[in-house]
Amino acid sequence: MGISYNQEARVFRLDTPGSTYLISLVDEMGFVCHAYYGRKIPDDNMNYLLRVNPQFLPFRESGQQTNVLDELPLEYPCHGLGDFRESCLRVETEEGHRVCGLTYLSHKIYGGKPALPGLPATHGGQEDCATLELRCRDEALGLEVSLLYTAFENLDVICRSARIENCGDRPLRLTAALSACLDMDNRSFDLITLHGSWAYERMINRRPLSWGKQGVSSRRGISSHQEQPFLALAERDANQSHGQVYAMHFVYSGNFIAQAEMRQQELVRVVMGIDTESFGWKLGPGESFQTPEAVLAYSSTGLDGMTHALHDLYRRHLTRGPWRDKPRPSLVNNWEATYFDFDSDKLLDIARTAAGRGIEMLVLDDGWFGCRNTDDNSLGDWFVNEKKLPGGLKRLADEINKLGMKFGLWVEPEMVSPDSELFRAHPDYALQIPGRSPMLSRTQLVLDLSREEVRRCVYDQLHKVLSSANIEYVKWDMNRSLTDVAGFCLEADRQGELFHRYVLGVYDLQERLLHDFPDLLLENCASGGGRFDPGMLYYSPQIWTSDNTDAIDRLRIQEGTALIYPLSTMGAHVAACPSHTNGRVTPFETRGLVSLPGCFGYELDLTKLTGEELDMIPGQLENYRKYGPVFHGGDYYRLASYGENQEYDALMAVSKDKRVAVVDYVHVMSRQQRRSVLLALRGLDEEKRYRSSESGEIRSGAGWMYGGLLLPTMKGDFLGKLIVLEEV
Ligand code: DGJ
Repeated sequence: MGISYNQEARVFRLDTPGSTYLISLVDEMGFVCHAYYGRKIPDDNMNYLLRVNPQFLPFRESGQQTNVLDELPLEYPCHGLGDFRESCLRVETEEGHRVCGLTYLSHKIYGGKPALPGLPATHGGQEDCATLELRCRDEALGLEVSLLYTAFENLDVICRSARIENCGDRPLRLTAALSACLDMDNRSFDLITLHGSWAYERMINRRPLSWGKQGVSSRRGISSHQEQPFLALAERDANQSHGQVYAMHFVYSGNFIAQAEMRQQELVRVVMGIDTESFGWKLGPGESFQTPEAVLAYSSTGLDGMTHALHDLYRRHLTRGPWRDKPRPSLVNNWEATYFDFDSDKLLDIARTAAGRGIEMLVLDDGWFGCRNTDDNSLGDWFVNEKKLPGGLKRLADEINKLGMKFGLWVEPEMVSPDSELFRAHPDYALQIPGRSPMLSRTQLVLDLSREEVRRCVYDQLHKVLSSANIEYVKWDMNRSLTDVAGFCLEADRQGELFHRYVLGVYDLQERLLHDFPDLLLENCASGGGRFDPGMLYYSPQIWTSDNTDAIDRLRIQEGTALIYPLSTMGAHVAACPSHTNGRVTPFETRGLVSLPGCFGYELDLTKLTGEELDMIPGQLENYRKYGPVFHGGDYYRLASYGENQEYDALMAVSKDKRVAVVDYVHVMSRQQRRSVLLALRGLDEEKRYRSSESGEIRSGAGWMYGGLLLPTMKGDFLGKLIVLEEV
């Protein structure tokens, strides 16, 4: 078991294959201190790192109590007693007092990992992980907090969350309930975050950690296009394959804060959790609040180590269901092909062309329901528009099935259009404040999914639709941020709970869906990648990466996404050209190469392709069939970044048994008289011998890695090549 307690030293020890995490109980008060996190060490007692001046202990008798608390590295800091840095837990009493401090009460260590009720979370059995529950208490408040830590046996990952219980007899109000804190000394850290905007998600940003507070957050009700609930501290000289990296990633899909703070003595505090500004939670006597989970990953082998730990964790211990490990079907989606302008005949034309080339599924996107021919009506009216689809979804799905293809469907269950039967019947179902007209976005409002009757109304409709035909895939969309966040049914002192209750409502709906349709392949989406987070991955093994389908823009978007998410989670389609996003013209082949590593599909009118383009499809699908499993299940390496060099892009995946490696190279901008590009490969077995599909040359893994792979010289822009190395 990777967790133990040294009673003499009063130290909890959490071990993963390459890291050690030590928690120390300090003073007879039992402060729960963070003693060490980093490369694996045999020592238990590392208390010298805490730098507590012995003269200041015992704490109660010390005249310097605030000096102790303000510099003590703590596991779950509170507020108002002398630690003036960011706190994880903030509590207000009925009298309005705002002070809280936790000390050790008891603990439990056991194999496996408990589920977090109503929340997405990583999972693992006795053989995969061990859990420590550290119970702490604030005597004066009658408040108890269980800090949960799970250490994974085969991954350098520790997952944390907190359960907060009001054990007193008077109500308390939580004004902050974060999930994790990491106190450390600065070691010339860089801060890495992913920022973006609609159609330009997850751009990698790396800058030196500086004084004060810095970080990212969302208050949009979704994790957002703009910020990712992730941050990493990397030693300044850390690169892809060298140096120490500490990452935190939040398994949650709503408002969040991810913040690093550097203060006096270069003390660094990293915190992650539900955003505090938009949060409040009333905790009655006997009630408890479970925070979502934060994932901590440690790497001593640079960004590769962090990426691999997160990829493996999400593939094995976060995603669930029959589609987790199965090859995902190639598909054609009609959105960029037709937008709202389609009928059964048009869809069947596309399907016939697709089936003839071997595409496995047709996905019917927005516009099949109510009277929706534009985006300003009908959300909430989940019944089929028979004018467009005579005979309903059943007839269409049957026809598509007859072609040997699966049928998938788009829905947007969280929304309501003011121009809809649902809104006319139940205007109070939408989030809004009486006396204030709610803000529209894409002419739609957000349903108050914190209410069970609203969820039931939407779910019953969905259930009926999905039972009406052979629908094997659902794309669950969500196309606006939350505003006017007020609930008709919540008391005034609980309105601050609504953002979180909304997210719990979304989770509840998706859980019901998976329960009732266990074989369904669910893909999440939020105007592209507006809710691409580990929380959603618990429900759907894949997410639509971005509404930006231009192959060249996608290079950077997918690079940032793949830094922390497995390629098997990224929806990636060969889209129409000139690009509907930016008008760029790129070769069909290159669009295929850029989409290949993800969940591969087409998003254009296949009936309008040239014969030459149509002829390329079977080859692209064959590559997806052969190498999709290597991209999706193997180890990913970023070899070159177009975002950095402005010239070319290259990624590589190596199968877990190291017998096959695939290099996906895109030559973006030609440069005059460039010598051929040399790529130092990674992740191969030094001893094995591999043949290159490009040159036919056979070389050792060591040769390909330390000598490198010479790429073919290419004339022209936006070209590319797939190179496969297979063991001989
Ligand atoms: C936003 C999605 O990202 C698109 O792929 C498409 O489904 C539209 N919504 C439909 O309204």
